[in-house]
Amino acid sequence: MTTTANLPNPMNTIEHLENEAPSRIDKASSIADLDAIEAETVGKRSPINEARRGLGAIADPAERGATGKAINNVATKLSGMIAAKRTLLETAEANTLLEADGADVTLKGRVPRRGTHHIIQQTIDEIVDIFVGLGYQMVEGPEAENDFYNFTALNFHETHPSRLESDTFYLDYGDTDEEILLRTHTSPMQARYMEKHDPPVYVVVPGKVFRSDAIDATHLPVFHQIEGLAVDDNITFADLKGTLGEFARQFFGTGTKVKFIPHYFPFTEPSAEMHAYTQGKWIELLGCGMVNPAVFEHVGYDPDALSGFAFGMGAERMAMVRHGITDLRTMIDSDVRTLDQYR
Ligand code: DAH
Repeated sequence: MTTTANLPNPMNTIEHLENEAPSRIDKASSIADLDAIEAETVGKRSPINEARRGLGAIADPAERGATGKAINNVATKLSGMIAAKRTLLETAEANTLLEADGADVTLKGRVPRRGTHHIIQQTIDEIVDIFVGLGYQMVEGPEAENDFYNFTALNFHETHPSRLESDTFYLDYGDTDEEILLRTHTSPMQARYMEKHDPPVYVVVPGKVFRSDAIDATHLPVFHQIEGLAVDDNITFADLKGTLGEFARQFFGTGTKVKFIPHYFPFTEPSAEMHAYTQGKWIELLGCGMVNPAVFEHVGYDPDALSGFAFGMGAERMAMVRHGITDLRTMIDSDVRTLDQYR
C-alpha cells in the first residue's frame, strides 16, 4: 500500500473504483464474498478511505472540496449497491437453506391423532360420577391385599373355594404373618374404610381386580370393579333398591326397570343380584345386599346400632351391556378401530 508521502491521485483512485467496483459487487456470489468487496472498497482500510486521507495534500481548497465531494458520492453509491446486493444474497441463501432442509412451508400441518379415555375408564368414570351425584365419596384401595381384608373380614369361610390357589393369585412375600394376594374384588376396601372411619359411610371404590381365569370372551384375569358401601343409622333394603334403581336409570335410561333376585355372598345378608331390563331383555348387572353383621363386628362397628348395604359391579360388564359388546377381549386388544367407536 502507499504511504502518505507517496499518495496516488485521489481522483484516479475513485475513478478506478467507480469503474471497477460495481461489476464486482454485482458478481458477488456469497455474503462472505460481498463482505470482502465491501472491506476493499468502502471499508476502513479501503482505497476510498485512503483517498479521503489524501485530501489534505491537495493545496487548492476548491479542488480539495470537489475531490472530497466526488469521493463521498462514489462511497455512497457503492455502499447503496452493496446493501442492495446484500439483501438479494440473504434471500437467496435463506432459500437455499430451506431447500436443503427439505421443508415445504406451504404444506399443510399434520394434525396429531386425538386420544380419548379408554372405554373401560369412561365407564368407570361415568359410574363413579353417578354415585358422587348421589352423595357418595370415591376412595381407592391397594391391589396387593392381605388375606384378612380380602376374605376373613368379609366373612368368607376358611374353606371357601375363592381362597384356592386355582382361583386367586398369591404373591410370594416370603415369611409373612398373612398371605398376600392380588385382590379378587374391590370389597376389601369396605373393611379397610370402616376400620378407619366412623359412620355414616357412603363410598364407592373403583379399581383393578385379579382372578386366576383363562382368557375367553367373558373372562379376563384382570378386570375392574366398582364397589359401593352405605352405612348409617337406619338403612333398609328399600334404600338399596332405591339407590341401585336410580343408578340403573341414570346409566341405561330413565325408563329402565330393575329386579332383585336372591343370591349368596358371605359379606351381605340378605344378598341379591340386580337385573335390569334393557335392550329388550333382562340382564344381570351386579351383586348387592345388606351388610352382614359379622362384617361390622370385624371392623369394630356396632351391628345393633348400624345397618348398611353394599354392592359390587364389573366395569367391563357394564360397558359390554351398555354398548352391546359380546367379546371382552375386544376391549383390551388395543385396536384403535375398535376403541375409536367409543369416543
Ligand atoms: N365382591 C363381589 C364379587 O366380586 C361383588 C359384590 C357382591 C360386592 C355383593 C358387594 C356385594 O359389595 O354386596 O363378585
